[in-house]
Amino acid sequence: MNNKTRTSLLLTGLGLGMAVVAFSGENGVAPPPAAAPVVTATMKDGKTIFQNVCAACHGPNGEGKAELKSPAIAGLPDWYAKHQLAGFREGRRGHDPKDAQSFMMAAIAKSLSPEQTQAVIEHASKMQPTTPAGIDHAPKDADLDEGRLAFQERCMECHRYNASGEIAFGSPPLIGQQAWYLTEQIHKFKDGRRGTIKGDVNGAKMILSSSFIEDEKMLRDIVAYILTLNPQPETAVKADSPFETATR
Ligand code: HEC
Ligand code: HEC
Repeated sequence: MNNKTRTSLLLTGLGLGMAVVAFSGENGVAPPPAAAPVVTATMKDGKTIFQNVCAACHGPNGEGKAELKSPAIAGLPDWYAKHQLAGFREGRRGHDPKDAQSFMMAAIAKSLSPEQTQAVIEHASKMQPTTPAGIDHAPKDADLDEGRLAFQERCMECHRYNASGEIAFGSPPLIGQQAWYLTEQIHKFKDGRRGTIKGDVNGAKMILSSSFIEDEKMLRDIVAYILTLNPQPETAVKADSPFETATR
């Protein structure tokens, strides 16, 4: 695909995405940025692509933007980001026009060449995770003990005890992610907007697992518990500077 086709594909995708987003405006979803980010063939290195394309929705530090429902992607493991971008490109994710967010992201994924995809993923995976931002948005009325029990019983097997993910299962880290994003993805797995396409083996695991979340209360409890697993800003700094900690 030449660059011109890619660009127009992207614009068509975004145009459609925008129409859908505008339609769902009542749900409080803001329209995508006025200046639609467009990738060109001259963009080669990951940082340039990130700043010119991804940052518009995912934020300059990859921290995500609640008003666009764009998740944090800073520090996302490269194996997971790669699989998701392939999924968006190949229609395993972003296939449902009623799902404005993943429809929009699919248009972006399709506009990138394989080399650009690889470069931008490598860049994003090396960015400093912006985790603690999510903690403030934890569901307030949640029961953390219930959340812990449910997590240990129904999620830990694949996402690991500290929700850091497991490459062998294709299960991503859940820490580092905002409450609204985790909640929304569970809704998507539950109602078939994600994970239902034939051949989406990893998505299918979550279709089953999300069915074990019995109601909204259990979902709130689990999500709130996951947020407590995020490294606190203080410990994150300590972990980054072992020598400093040792002399303290
Ligand atoms: C027009 C807005 C927009 C732009 C530009 C954009 N994204 Fe996204 N992206 C989103 C939204 C919204 C989602 C969430 C989709 C969903 O809810 O399923 C998303 C999801 C993702 C995910 C999946 C995250 C996860 O945890 O599963 C990855 C990876 C991603 N984007 C990478 C990128 C990269 C890399 C770029 C730049 C090349 C980019 N995005 C540009 C809006 C955007
Ligand atoms: C059998 C293994 C398994 C279990 C158990 C499991 N998951 Fe997952 N989960 C996965 C896999 C694999 C993916 C990646 C799906 C994909 O590639 O689209 C995933 C993805 C997710 C996502 C999307 C993250 C993102 O960045 O988009 C969320 C949220 C999630 N899981 C939450 C949970 C919760 C909460 C539980 C417990 C109720 C749970 N999972 C149990 C395997 C599992």
